[in-house]
Amino acid sequence: MSEQTGGTLGQSSPNWAALDAPAVELAGNPLAGRDLLRLMDLTPQQFHMVLSTALYQKQAWRSDPAAGQASAPYQRQAVGIILEKPSLRTRVSFELAAARLGAHPVVMADSNSAFSRGESLKDTTMVLERFVDAIVIRSFAQSRVEEIAQWASVPVVNALTDDFHPCQGLADFLTAYEHKGNLSQLKLAYVGDGNNMAHTYLEGAALCGMQAHIATPPAYQPQPLYVQQCQELAAATGARLTVDSDVEAALSEADVLITDTWASMGAEAEHDERAAVFKDYRLTAESFKLARPGAIFLHCLPAHRGEEVTDEVMDAPCSKIYDEAENRLHAQKTLLSLLMAPASVTR
Ligand code: CP
Ligand code: NVA
Repeated sequence: MSEQTGGTLGQSSPNWAALDAPAVELAGNPLAGRDLLRLMDLTPQQFHMVLSTALYQKQAWRSDPAAGQASAPYQRQAVGIILEKPSLRTRVSFELAAARLGAHPVVMADSNSAFSRGESLKDTTMVLERFVDAIVIRSFAQSRVEEIAQWASVPVVNALTDDFHPCQGLADFLTAYEHKGNLSQLKLAYVGDGNNMAHTYLEGAALCGMQAHIATPPAYQPQPLYVQQCQELAAATGARLTVDSDVEAALSEADVLITDTWASMGAEAEHDERAAVFKDYRLTAESFKLARPGAIFLHCLPAHRGEEVTDEVMDAPCSKIYDEAENRLHAQKTLLSLLMAPASVTR
């Protein structure tokens, strides 16, 4: 719906050491009515604002769940949640996030709903927006979600495409902050497929001035255009981004170790071929010997235990995968509250 204005600095750099600074009145809500189709739709300041507001709202919810429930102005609103690929975490967390704001979630996840009958994206979107106040969509091509956003006059949120998973990114950077602190001082290592998660980590790292090293097999690197866009932003934020196939260099001195499935949704038929190519891109207990002491492990899940990561890592104390999954709910509740709110909202 809205012109995306993210990706530039514009103001002074946010303080990435202080997401838990005391609550302050925001001068305004720059995200009101906006879309979130990828993390770089946000400026560094807006990324910082979403994460810090999510952390604040999570802590408020933890201390008094009743206080955070069903708040105006969301009580008469509805959120359409369209899932064109399978989901556990995204479906449950968005449905609950909308409900906890007091909005009505309408989930369209079966094969007979939403875009299933060949109706044009324009007609479907322009009908949907007569009913709902935000559209959350998980789909295939990024261009499909971009087209829906062009037709929609309500906010559109990307709940995963082949290219990006920005809501997972919000949860993951929030989790990294909670466990490791100052995001701009951390090194993120991602080992595996140069997929939607790799693109999302590059964008998040570029936004918060982080060091990130993505190591993938040569034929499975992140898309060059996205890497270039992230490098351009990194030049402004001080982020240091490396994309290559060097697993040891990626893991060396890393604070946050991440991997993802070797065959994403839509690429399942390539599983066996990919498993052979990716076998040296598995995270194991050995991987942590190269990392910094106290390094944590993240995975967006679902994981394929024994493939991209061992049971030993998944179940180790350094594994924060369930905190990460929980943070989907907190991050998305905040995101929806900002996108759907009037411009005067405060946190
Ligand atoms: N991580 C994630 O998006 O999980 P689901 O596919 O279960 O929604
Ligand atoms: N890369 C994975 C992420 C799942 C949450 C996929 O797209 O299937």
